[in-house]
Amino acid sequence: MIFGACYYPEHWDRGEWKHHAELMREAGFNTVRTGDFAWGCIEKEEGVFEFSYLDDAIEVLAAEGIRVILCTPTAAPPKWLVNQYDILQRDRYGRRKNWGARREACANSAAYRERSVIIAEEMAKHYAHNENVIAWQIDNEFGCHDSTHCYCENCRKAFSKWLERKYGTIERLNQTWGTVFWSLQYESFEDVILPVYNSCEPENAHGWSHNPSLDLEYRRFASDSWAEYQKLQIDAVRKYTDKPVTHNFMGHFADIDYYNLAKDLDFVAWDNYPDNQWGSSEYEYVSMAHEIMRGVKNRNFIVAEQQSGPCGWDMFGAAPEPGQLRLWTHQALAHGGEGMIYFRFKPLHYGMEQYWYGVLDHDGIPRRRYYEIQKTGQELEKLEPYIAGAKNHYDALIVRSYDNIWAHQIKQHARKFNYQELLYSYYRANADLNINTAVSMGNYADYKVVYMPAYNVVHPEEMEKITEYVRNGGTLVTTFRSGTRDTFNNLFTTTLPCAFAELAGIEVEEFAALRKPVAVDGIVSSKAEIWCDMIKPVTAKVLSIYSDGYFRNKAAVTVNIYGKGRVYYIGCDLEREALGRLVCHISERCGIKMTEMPSGVEVVRRNNCMILMNHNDCEVRVGLKGKSLISNQHFNGKLEAYGVEWILAE
Ligand code: GLA
Ligand code: ZN
Repeated sequence: MIFGACYYPEHWDRGEWKHHAELMREAGFNTVRTGDFAWGCIEKEEGVFEFSYLDDAIEVLAAEGIRVILCTPTAAPPKWLVNQYDILQRDRYGRRKNWGARREACANSAAYRERSVIIAEEMAKHYAHNENVIAWQIDNEFGCHDSTHCYCENCRKAFSKWLERKYGTIERLNQTWGTVFWSLQYESFEDVILPVYNSCEPENAHGWSHNPSLDLEYRRFASDSWAEYQKLQIDAVRKYTDKPVTHNFMGHFADIDYYNLAKDLDFVAWDNYPDNQWGSSEYEYVSMAHEIMRGVKNRNFIVAEQQSGPCGWDMFGAAPEPGQLRLWTHQALAHGGEGMIYFRFKPLHYGMEQYWYGVLDHDGIPRRRYYEIQKTGQELEKLEPYIAGAKNHYDALIVRSYDNIWAHQIKQHARKFNYQELLYSYYRANADLNINTAVSMGNYADYKVVYMPAYNVVHPEEMEKITEYVRNGGTLVTTFRSGTRDTFNNLFTTTLPCAFAELAGIEVEEFAALRKPVAVDGIVSSKAEIWCDMIKPVTAKVLSIYSDGYFRNKAAVTVNIYGKGRVYYIGCDLEREALGRLVCHISERCGIKMTEMPSGVEVVRRNNCMILMNHNDCEVRVGLKGKSLISNQHFNGKLEAYGVEWILAE
């Protein structure tokens, strides 16, 4: 199993490398991830490549049994490159994103592409036969620092070509987008604008100030631009080596279509920081991030950067408490991780990330975090047969589509509505019942129940697949706003919920974005606070009704038998507890096994074992017993604060 840390030899005196490598070996590390951001060291001037420092460092590491995942350094273009060429992004106000940090280059800049391909090729050529290089990473965190969307001339020109390929004629584009509204007709593809600052700019600049078709197409184009940019580098690397190639993704991040970005990669890697300067995540949110990452290719992944200390850029998040680094490691592995790389081995006393602590502190002396990771590594060796290549069995699927995320960003529906939060609320409801829940697209037949909350942009092929799934006996759960938009982000003109009407066996007579809460009664009692669909059942059965105001007695939640399957339609938002009860009811009907646990205790089922994780800062007792795969002893149900157990159930 890959077990290691991010380590940057260029940050340290050569004389320290050996000592660092020895400490890594003693920690049980076998892998270092490096090279990201080293452009300025490898190509100090255009076309002059210098690998000797990296060669030497790789050798020093190899002498201690540590091998390398090598990253192309293109997330940090050096100064000579920006002096020579205009590769910098423009924001929606036309302002240049100046050099001085990282990730400021435009994916559609010809010079940036060309220089990136050259350095990727030079690196691949140089290290192709180095047996200590075990895998490649292209670039670093595409899209971070809000860098997916660029509004420069290169992008505008590339967008017009992208549109021409898709639409063929400008008449077709005008017709499809409805540019007749507000006299927005275009004469040619060259004429089409990017969604830049205009007279309708909302407070939140990512909102609705443009034609919704233009806005969605632009987001697709920008996402494609990075996949295309990445592909150029992948091709460059693959010219020389067949070692596996990855990129480090960012979990819930959604500006780039990760299904598409991952297509050209051998495996997915991702960066996990549960608690940093910018916030602290609920454990279910972290689990969901792991599942999103697993769902990208429906395959196991590695963690390319795992938080290993307190961190932030000018302020710290919470310091990981004793046991938490171990817990986070096991959490990743439980959800489909099969490699673990901590960020970073040693923190740096200079530069932007002075406060980003790692396995060690600035003085380099191993302390609690180092020893906890070392111990974790030792127990992982015992668990190896249950990790590499292991597959969880999933009962439920949350469908997560980027088109939907983007369309919901463009048109939010209601003030408090947030699509990603809605998806999370459904994931959390399942996770709290300890139902193994995948987050992905497609392959519906693999699951007992499929959740498609607010699935508003509907692709005809997806619709056919889900219909087929239900017809054959599957259970679909969908909600308000589902089925309302076509792939061009225009609304359907059939009766709501349009594309889902037949499956759900209902008509939505009226809806309301709420100003005041509305009570819901029936199979679940709750309060809707964001949205209410007033449902008229056609073939569906009513499960809950509204009991307030003019909504009184109208159906709020329904279920419909369709073919051999059933479709639940939830017309409003529900409180956490109510949603939990509803998910429990649906899961019972689907024959899904749920495991009751004290709050904060997570269970993941994997073939013949159960992974138990206590996210509480206090000891808990659980009802499960069995043989611990970690201690080889009988597990008596006691989990210490942040404790973990892998047990073979009795
Ligand atoms: C990201 C990057 C790393 C580092 C960390 C900490 O995950 O990939 O290079 O910057 O954040 O900020
Ligand atoms: Zn650009």
